[in-house]
Amino acid sequence: MARWGLLALVLATPTLAEETPDATALERLVVQDCGSCHGLTLKGGLGPDIRPETLEFYDPELLLEVILDGIPDTPMPPWRPLLTEAEAAWIVDFLLTGEAR
Ligand code: HEC
Repeated sequence: MARWGLLALVLATPTLAEETPDATALERLVVQDCGSCHGLTLKGGLGPDIRPETLEFYDPELLLEVILDGIPDTPMPPWRPLLTEAEAAWIVDFLLTGEAR
């Protein structure tokens, strides 16, 4: 019987992921994927420094657009194919506060 419980959990997971951003997965994405260009500590590499102290003057709406649509004619890619708006909004909050909530 425990097996059915597990199956239900596995089947329910994709739906859950669409509604509630998965903080652990998103934090990993920010460090590994964003970090591959912006540096593992986000202090800059190929891409600029995107730590909270650097982004604090940014309008959160604009940050959301930068993440979802990228910056044309630069290596900053659009993430819309991979992230929902809710996930991108989670990342904006994470970048601005430096905390996973
Ligand atoms: C392939 C390399 C690459 C990846 C991967 C990447 N970026 Fe960028 N990003 C850049 C570059 C290069 C720029 C600067 C573009 C320019 O010249 O304006 C940039 C700019 C930005 C900016 C604007 C910073 C500013 O001060 O104007 C933000 C915010 C940003 N990226 C966030 C992210 C986030 C969040 C992720 C992961 C979801 C990510 N980037 C992944 C290369 C990358």
